Amino acid sequence: PRRWQHTTSRQPLSSVTPEDIAHFAKILPRNAILSTLPPSALPSSEIEQYNNDWMGKYHGSATTVLRPQTTQQVSEIMKWCYERRIGVVPQGGNTGLVGGSVPVKDELILNLGNMSKVRSFDPVSGALVADAGCILESLSEYIAPHNHIMPLDLGAKGSCQIGGNVATNAGGLRLLRYGSLHGTVLGLEVVLPDGTILDNLTTIRKDNTGKPTSGYDLKQLFIGAEGTLGIITGVSILTPPAPQATNNIILALPRFENVLPLFKTARLHLSEILSAFEFIDREAYELAVKHGQGRALGEDEVEGAQCFVLLETSGGKKEHDEEKLTTLLESLMDAEDPLIITGVLSQSPTQFASLWRLREGITEAVSKEGKAYKYDISVPLASFKDVVDTTREHLRKNGLLHADAVKQVIGYGHVGDGNLHLNIVAAAYTPEIEAALEPFVYELVASYNGSISAEHGLGAMKAHAIHYSKSDVAVDMMKRIKQLLDPRGIMNPGKVLEV
Ligand code: FAD
Ligand code: MLT
Ligand code: ZN
Repeated sequence: PRRWQHTTSRQPLSSVTPEDIAHFAKILPRNAILSTLPPSALPSSEIEQYNNDWMGKYHGSATTVLRPQTTQQVSEIMKWCYERRIGVVPQGGNTGLVGGSVPVKDELILNLGNMSKVRSFDPVSGALVADAGCILESLSEYIAPHNHIMPLDLGAKGSCQIGGNVATNAGGLRLLRYGSLHGTVLGLEVVLPDGTILDNLTTIRKDNTGKPTSGYDLKQLFIGAEGTLGIITGVSILTPPAPQATNNIILALPRFENVLPLFKTARLHLSEILSAFEFIDREAYELAVKHGQGRALGEDEVEGAQCFVLLETSGGKKEHDEEKLTTLLESLMDAEDPLIITGVLSQSPTQFASLWRLREGITEAVSKEGKAYKYDISVPLASFKDVVDTTREHLRKNGLLHADAVKQVIGYGHVGDGNLHLNIVAAAYTPEIEAALEPFVYELVASYNGSISAEHGLGAMKAHAIHYSKSDVAVDMMKRIKQLLDPRGIMNPGKVLEV
């Protein structure tokens, strides 16, 4: 079958040669170099997993993957690549959804998976310092005995790495409660494109004495830079104390219009203990259930439901929180025109996980159903349904809404953050579908003064569309920063900016 390849422009760069491999062999042990070039000359199937993204949408043609173990090794690799003008793609867990983690062409892949040590943890302040390649879930498990949790959580937690999270400025399911990584990351260690190591790994929250946080806050530049400015090798992050009690509840709503009043009511009743408020439309719910993600609600419970909300509380006392939740439920049900049809409160840790699965598992369900065009957008909450419906209608008018082209258009996302995930589930990635969707979706988002990239990043997918979200002045400033830090354009070329 014909492979559809996204095209982006970039500066001319050198390809990796056998001589480069010989040089890398002086820096790294043999087993940290995977290459189709001599002397090892591995079959390309051995590095396929690194060249293809999680969705099967973006395909690189790297010949070489390096898996360093130390910051020093990363620095030496970068020094060499800088001299030789070899493009480098930093790669974490390769769970990114915008094609940022695989090469556009044959850039070298620098995979962080072998850098997976926790460097320190302070159980009093909660400051955790870890190698960038640590898996998010492993870090959660590491700090759990100390009664701390990671300030972010996402469906990809079992594979994504903290360095990748920081590089994409991942949002996820806890942002409502703990805020963004721009607030929780205390410091970073970064290897710059020429191999210089920028050690900003502070564990201090406030510092006006002349070191990291006074002057320009350099770490912020790398949060969300998607590997275009340097390689994050270490992360210092503030982890909050684990809540003493967590509850969740799934609410079935008769009408989408009820989501906003429900959000307001929930905030009013639950105030500080509200920790997540997630939206799932009916089609997304059905898809999650179809692909075995979480336990379905009863037939009668979902009858007439147009959408669902998954709500979580995290507080200090289980009984107290349950009481608040029950009062909320009662007031919702007792109203003259109830905002909800029903609410199912989890009664055990297994049910708690199962309810979350219905929401977190949508991404996986979508990938089992077909090939997803994923638009991760910020639009006013009141327009979530309109955006999904308008897109579906547009595809229908273009004759593309049928089993062989677009199977479904669904919406889900983080209500608290105004972040909708508009997913177009297709039988295959085709230029026809993409042409129907872009710039249509971007213009639709712009008509709501929204953002075309809420939390997944721009990657290769949206580098050309950055103007929809940022002013010319902002894009120009970004280009100048890129030019300053990466004058040879070797860091993750073709991503974020079209340079
Ligand atoms: P990768 O995919 O390997 O890389 C992503 C980008 O970061 C690339 O541009 C790469 O070059 C760069 N990068 C990676 N590591 C480094 C490093 N050490 N230094 C510099 N640059 C680096 N995202 C959300 O925001 N919220 C969600 O709720 C969410 N849920 C998801 C659920 C599923 C099932 C999946 C598959 C993805 C989800 N994502 C979500 C997207 C993705 O998981 C996140 O963006 C994640 O943070 C990427 O981490 P990673 O280690 O896999 O990075
Ligand atoms: C989510 O919120 O589930 C993630 O951002 C992944 C996705 O958009 O599918
Ligand atoms: Zn999300």
